[in-house]
Amino acid sequence: MNRRRVMEKKWWHKTVGYQIYPKSFQDTNGDGIGDLKGVIRHLDKIEKLGANVIWLCPVFASPMVDNGYDISDYMDIDPSFGTMEDMKELIAEAKKRGIRILMDLVVNHSSDRHAWFQAALKDPFGKYGKYYVFREGKDGKEPNNWRSIFGGSAWEKVPGYDKLYYLHIFTKEQPDLNWENPKLREEIYEMILKWMDLGLGGFRLDAISHLKKNYQYTNLPPDGPDEYNMAFEYFNNVDGLADILCEMKERTFAPTDALTIGEYDHMGPEDVEDVIGENGSFSSVFDFCHTLDNVRNPKWGNTVALFDDYRDQLFAAQKIVDGRGMLCNFLENHDKPRSIDRFLMPEDQNLYSEKMLPVTNFFLPGIVFLYQGQEIGMTNCHRNDISEYDDISTKDQYQVAIDAGCTKEEALACCYENSRDNARTPMQWSADENGGFSAHAPWLAVNPNYKEINVSEQEGRADSVLSYYKELIKLRKSPEYEETFVYGNVEPVYEDTDTVFGFMRMGKENRQKILVAANYGKEAVSLPLPGTAKKLLLSNAGRRKLADADHITLESLETAVVLLKA
Ligand code: GLC
Ligand code: CA
Repeated sequence: MNRRRVMEKKWWHKTVGYQIYPKSFQDTNGDGIGDLKGVIRHLDKIEKLGANVIWLCPVFASPMVDNGYDISDYMDIDPSFGTMEDMKELIAEAKKRGIRILMDLVVNHSSDRHAWFQAALKDPFGKYGKYYVFREGKDGKEPNNWRSIFGGSAWEKVPGYDKLYYLHIFTKEQPDLNWENPKLREEIYEMILKWMDLGLGGFRLDAISHLKKNYQYTNLPPDGPDEYNMAFEYFNNVDGLADILCEMKERTFAPTDALTIGEYDHMGPEDVEDVIGENGSFSSVFDFCHTLDNVRNPKWGNTVALFDDYRDQLFAAQKIVDGRGMLCNFLENHDKPRSIDRFLMPEDQNLYSEKMLPVTNFFLPGIVFLYQGQEIGMTNCHRNDISEYDDISTKDQYQVAIDAGCTKEEALACCYENSRDNARTPMQWSADENGGFSAHAPWLAVNPNYKEINVSEQEGRADSVLSYYKELIKLRKSPEYEETFVYGNVEPVYEDTDTVFGFMRMGKENRQKILVAANYGKEAVSLPLPGTAKKLLLSNAGRRKLADADHITLESLETAVVLLKA
């Protein structure tokens, strides 16, 4: 696996990234909403953690229907987050600490409040009408029966017109931009270059595999009681997408040496070269292989991933990439439940397993990202009523569950397991009121466990999850081993042992051999080492050395990173 060729080295190959959801990170002016000054306040902490890149979820001007993923002005900062001056200060302060800032580029759609869309509504057949996708309906209905990703039709009627609709694959307040129109593309390229001029490190590219649509507007067989069809193959990774992305890269990212990480769904083996290959459109893409749709779940109702499936998916993703580019490995983001609840059975959640989880993700080939709060082991959050949630997608899913005959309790249980708000509760800085996030009631209530799980409690404690994350990142970045972790080949080991996630990393030039192994099972396992042990590099069980040079015993939920003799 992964032995293709030697890559040309780039600064970003060593990325250990930290994702910030600004609205929930730190409030500094007492309005209950996190802000840019709050991010600046904690830069030292992020530096100490060892991150060299920050991805900032959207802070652009927005009516906040989808928390900033609906942008009304790409060149302005939303007043709830601060000002353009704050943004410039953040970029400069981060730079002083060797940290580059990525912003979230949301260009599949704009907000319906964007000046372009407002002009388009006034004159759908004029210049700005061509920036969006307007189509006539059929027989008194929408142009076709595509379902939007957040529920309901993907088409909304244009006020004042009989038959005219516009396309929105997310909410109706997020009209899709028309990437077939060269004028629209030029506007976006200009905007990207302006931001790069301000000193950004690059972008995370939102919903980027959706830019190209297949405009065969026929109805599809309904796949639900609502008569709609989740027509993903008509608006995701559609033929011709690569041409659009390649042009964008040539015009913007390549000349500015931007780090770009795509939110790219379903990248197949045949897409790898175009997307993240040597001359691909992006530096990297988030590896979504372990997200809910791809990994089977146990039938007993929880959404915890089945271990062997999870492991196999991660290896399969590496195989698809086959050393042709770098995936971005991650366990959490602002759209997913917390990893502890996602990947560990409730009875397995403890200090050991929380520390085991990142190891089998962090040391795979690729760049890595962690999400705010992951480094202290933040968890999903119970709510008693749907009104306590904020996220539009959660509200939609709740209604779907109720309409399908679920009780309120059952529907809330689904929200607990899946809601995007699990990741969006305020950052838990301390045991102070609202977890130290804000002196004011936060926009989304803090998880009540902030008294036990918080940064200040963990900062001074050597065996805390936070201290462990620091150790983990330090090891990954250590001059002795970084070359192997970043550029080395990967070879799965112990695949026949049902509960073990194991692989070897092998340095190309330095001939180093490093074993990464974790026992996700309930019983201890004893395994022959694929070589002779030289040094134990990391242990979640506080071990200092291995008992044997040719065997390794891993207790339940134990992990180890071992240097073997070359
Ligand atoms: C991406 C974002 C998500 C957002 C959606 C629409 O999936 O991660 O938060 O709702 O795009 O922009
Ligand atoms: Ca604020």
